[in-house]
Amino acid sequence: MKKYDVAVIGSGPGGYVAAIRCAQLGMKTALVEKYNTLGGTCLNVGCIPSKSLLDSSHHYESAQKHFSDHGIEFQGELKINFKQMIDRKAAVVEQTTKGVDYLMNKNKIDVLHGLGSFKDATHILVEGEHSQTIEAKNTIIATGSKPATLPFIELDKERVITSTEALKFKEIPKHLIVIGGGVIGLELGQVYRRLGAEVSVLEYADRITPVMDAGLSRELMKVMKKQGVKFYLSHGVTKVERKAEVVHVTATDKKGVEVNFKGDYCLVSVGRKPYTEGLNTQAAGVQINERGQIAVNNHLQTTTSNIYAIGDVVQGAMLAHKAEEEGVVVAEFLEGQKPHIDYNLIPNVIYTWPEVAAVGKTEEELKKQGVAYKTGQFPMRALGRARASMDIDGFVKILADAKTDEILGVHMIGARAADLIAEAVTAMEFRASAEDIARMSHSHPTYAEAVKEAALAATEDRSIHT
Ligand code: FAD
Ligand code: NAI
Repeated sequence: MKKYDVAVIGSGPGGYVAAIRCAQLGMKTALVEKYNTLGGTCLNVGCIPSKSLLDSSHHYESAQKHFSDHGIEFQGELKINFKQMIDRKAAVVEQTTKGVDYLMNKNKIDVLHGLGSFKDATHILVEGEHSQTIEAKNTIIATGSKPATLPFIELDKERVITSTEALKFKEIPKHLIVIGGGVIGLELGQVYRRLGAEVSVLEYADRITPVMDAGLSRELMKVMKKQGVKFYLSHGVTKVERKAEVVHVTATDKKGVEVNFKGDYCLVSVGRKPYTEGLNTQAAGVQINERGQIAVNNHLQTTTSNIYAIGDVVQGAMLAHKAEEEGVVVAEFLEGQKPHIDYNLIPNVIYTWPEVAAVGKTEEELKKQGVAYKTGQFPMRALGRARASMDIDGFVKILADAKTDEILGVHMIGARAADLIAEAVTAMEFRASAEDIARMSHSHPTYAEAVKEAALAATEDRSIHT
């Protein structure tokens, strides 16, 4: 029987990063994955393929709507080769998952393909083509999550689908009904709207992305409405029924009136749930909480002391970079270090265009906590760089402590916000004040100048360009 210092179950961004860090620290490491390809949800059916389609559809939209403004004209008809778009996405996924194979090899990590399940706290059965039992001093569970649904919905995965199917359509939907105005619904909704589909987003809450700062929700909805996406807020879906090639969706609006929708596809994007099926956690004494997550303490240690859990399968944001940080933390903790994650500083991004990005507290949270804060906001349209590219939608908003000027939250929507947020994370890690950012030189012309201007506005209401 093969013996390991650490076995990692699940090869998503949590698991494969944990395995690499364990190997870097000299631990003999195995990575167990039930699918043939490594990389988990993120690389196979999540972050990477969705961003790939967002990029392709963005190019199409630019060619269709904005090239002529730039003086670029073409003869003949602009056409979508949808099969090529999906094939390119598949190629990007393949290249990326193969990259993980390479990294496993490079770090001398044993990759064992098969379903991992506990026999006891130190033995794991790997059931696959070559089934075997391995012994592991420590185990890190990184089994991720699966799409959640509503109790009355039957996901047939043909017409009533999850994000996984929406990433590999054979045709562009005519009318895509999206249940849930969260991250998946908005990103994939935007992809298919750009490609010509009618897109209707049905959201239960009174705003889209209800956990983000309300200002961002409003601006994103405004922009997406301009792009032609239809929004139905405060609509609780009560029935989803497929009849032949048509999906009928019934919802109740806030006045209690029944509203009916008809589309050729219905994307169910109402969140994700932790995945622990087949793990046989009880054999190892690992407890699962009432939300279906593996219960962990501050060190991400489960109720069995040599077993840890990270990523989507435990509490907290279901984000790839959160899973990665946790993987590193557990590896370093196992080596006797004292690593730490500040969960308040895990950024949140929506990769629509304009992009939406945030870190730290929202205005709603600060109000609820009774924290006195000041706000500095700067509109993208006031930036030379934004006008040059015609990406004038959005703003950067900085929330800073009213007394100390420490930055408490940064919320932005605009071109390249996904990358701009890194400056805010760095500043907040070092507990910078708004004035610190305001006094730093930002190259001109860049979108990053909006961060400086918002900091200036927060400091003494002395933004230069508004
Ligand atoms: P996962 O990536 O889910 O990996 C878990 C792995 O464990 C899987 O490979 C699974 O097969 C394997 N496994 C499960 N059980 C067993 C078992 N018993 N034995 C062996 N193997 C097992 N996050 C971002 O930060 N940015 C984004 O842009 C982004 N976009 C997304 C887009 C979509 C459409 C979706 C669905 C998600 C997106 N996410 C994004 C979320 C991100 O994918 C997850 O947060 C991330 O993948 C979680 O990583 P993980 O390692 O915890 O689990
Ligand atoms: P989500 O939690 O982002 O959004 C779900 C939405 O559905 C919420 O707005 C919620 O109010 C709504 N909803 C719930 N029940 C409903 C009902 N009965 N009727 C109508 N609306 C209802 O979940 P989503 O979009 O499925 O994504 C899952 C997770 O995947 C995200 O939470 C995120 O962690 C991750 N993800 C991250 C991405 C990124 O970082 N860019 C991209 C895609 C996914």
